[in-house]
Amino acid sequence: MPRPPEFKDLTDPAALADPYPVLARLREASPFAESDGAFVVAGRHADVSAVLRDPDASSERGTSLIATQSARPLELPSFVTLDAPDHTRLRRLVSKAFTARTVARLEPRIRAVTDELLDAAAATGQLEVVSQLAYPLPVRIICELLGVPADDYQRFAGWSGALAHSLQPQFGLTEEEAEASARSARAAAAEFAAYFRELIAVRRARLATDLLSDMITAESDGDKLTENELVGTCILLLVAGHETTAGLIANAILALLRHPGQLALLGADPGLAAGAVEETLRYDAPVLMIPRTARNGMRVGNLVTRDSAFVALLPAATGRDPDVFPNPDIFDIRRGAANHLAFGAGPHSCLGAPLARLEARIAIEEFAARVTAPELDVGALRYRPNLNLRSPDRLVLTFAGITSARGAETADDHARADRDRLKVTFDTVADRYHQARPAYPEQLYDALISLAGLRPGARLLEVGCGTGKATLPLAERGFAITCLEPGAHLAQAARRNLAAFDDVHVVEQAFERWEPPAGERFDLVYAATAWHWIDPALGYQLAWRWLRPGGHLSVWGAVPVFPGDGDPFFRGLQEVYEEIGAAGQADAWRFAPGELPDIRSAIEGSGFFAGTVVRQFDWEISYTAEEYIALLDTFSSHIDMADAQRDRLYGEIRRRLAARPGGQARRRWGAALGVARRADTHPAS
Ligand code: HEM
Repeated sequence: MPRPPEFKDLTDPAALADPYPVLARLREASPFAESDGAFVVAGRHADVSAVLRDPDASSERGTSLIATQSARPLELPSFVTLDAPDHTRLRRLVSKAFTARTVARLEPRIRAVTDELLDAAAATGQLEVVSQLAYPLPVRIICELLGVPADDYQRFAGWSGALAHSLQPQFGLTEEEAEASARSARAAAAEFAAYFRELIAVRRARLATDLLSDMITAESDGDKLTENELVGTCILLLVAGHETTAGLIANAILALLRHPGQLALLGADPGLAAGAVEETLRYDAPVLMIPRTARNGMRVGNLVTRDSAFVALLPAATGRDPDVFPNPDIFDIRRGAANHLAFGAGPHSCLGAPLARLEARIAIEEFAARVTAPELDVGALRYRPNLNLRSPDRLVLTFAGITSARGAETADDHARADRDRLKVTFDTVADRYHQARPAYPEQLYDALISLAGLRPGARLLEVGCGTGKATLPLAERGFAITCLEPGAHLAQAARRNLAAFDDVHVVEQAFERWEPPAGERFDLVYAATAWHWIDPALGYQLAWRWLRPGGHLSVWGAVPVFPGDGDPFFRGLQEVYEEIGAAGQADAWRFAPGELPDIRSAIEGSGFFAGTVVRQFDWEISYTAEEYIALLDTFSSHIDMADAQRDRLYGEIRRRLAARPGGQARRRWGAALGVARRADTHPAS
């Protein structure tokens, strides 16, 4: 019998990148109380929605039973932590600036800043999404709106980060650590306050057309803001206005990269961008927890709270509540998920929601239209160490190019032309791919069959079959295979290549969106290469669901490996890539044969699989110049090279191999085959 979940399970470092299994357990157990009723957890959509609208749910978090003196940074009234009537009065004074209609006027400016940021990334040839797009876009817009010089960002980035950090629950910290964190938040708030007092003095002397000047002159019901209220509101708007939106943009781009089928849909129809933003808010909310303090025996579902209990509301858990969202772990930008609680609800619902939605929509529209063939650098993905504001702080991409932004009238035409060009190149690739990409060795299939205990006639589900390269050897061994492939051209090619097998069916669908016919379950779910495209939070769970009890999951992929005595031809080629300014396109000299990264921990960490066996294989293929060039022509990075670069590279390959006696280069490939058994019980049960 697994122990009941506790809120502090969220502090497990593994939960930072993927808190959803823990959130699911907390939601299912909720509402429940910890610490003698001083701490209450709510994760169900219905409960969280009701508490957010309950007048007995106070926002004065500093007065809850668990609040310590050190948790209060500074006596600056921030209306997110006030109740009526002060909350109502302060909110009303700034709410006009954030209505959907006022914010819509900012669209051209937001688009111009986005274009500028992507132009800068194009010039450097690198894109780390957080520092080059997701963060600077909302910072610049909220600074311009408030009337804060955006160049001062370097000064206040640290203060903002410290304040954002202080919002997270202080679990697992020693008293000294908690005090140190509170001290740094207090120092940040003091510096922020001094900064704004100076700026307010400048504006008082000469008003400008910005929100700060509006607030200085604002009168509502004859009521002006005091200087402290003004400073507190400025800090709130500045911090809330970018820390969260940066998270939304990064989470949206990450989800799209992990669901290339969805990114392709968006590329084909930019009108889906608003839906993609809503779906990200539901699927991967940037704010994990909203705090409340319970008064007057407030109820959370059927639980009656202790007076002043701290209530942790979990919007990120409500977004995956199956009572409200069918198939909640599936990321589907066409879902139309309007009723998520990522922006809260009730009197404190996010004031900046229209602005955040607009910025995120434009950022992902431009991203999808301008960044060609983007791929996530999985190894470089890192999350910021903040449990509550949850999003990556490093999200590196490789890409074929960033097309230039044209004038507003031609931007759409340009994006369309670019998409069509890629589609055409992909058609040619699909035909060549099957011939050129390396076949896996027969021993790999023998090991797979024996480790997974497959008998003739076993039913297999292949995730992302491409052209059917890894399907064919298994089809030839007589297995019944359902192959999922989201790309239309690849699926077509796979159908052609597998036409001879009556028991093999290619379905043009993404694994994340597909469901088997009622009752159909598989003996093996496998993916060659394609597994890294699948959101791990979803992939392992779906594989578990579609396998019969005792079934197996298997993943592998081929990468170049470099033995100490490897063919020097490839090292020589590295210099050519550097000379033509395409060093990033060359092979990474990372792995020796037999030393490919261990995939066991990723598989078992999911909780859905156990008993993983990993076998490493390596094999050699000799290539003539034309064969090697045909292989390179199947990589989007090489297809999209400038003609001059490609001519020089291919010319050099031909020249160097022609000078060799056999005219060939020996290339070594490696694959780590992982085979794991389906856990007998669902990890959440
Ligand atoms: C994706 C981006 C954003 C998310 C996920 C988000 C989330 C939230 C949430 C959950 C609340 C409710 C807090 C509570 O009930 O205690 C909130 C409140 C608030 N947000 Fe946002 N926010 C975002 C962007 C913004 C932006 C761009 C601004 C301003 C420019 C902003 C300003 C505010 C303010 C002022 C409040 C306090 C409202 C009140 O207490 O009445 N937010 N936000």
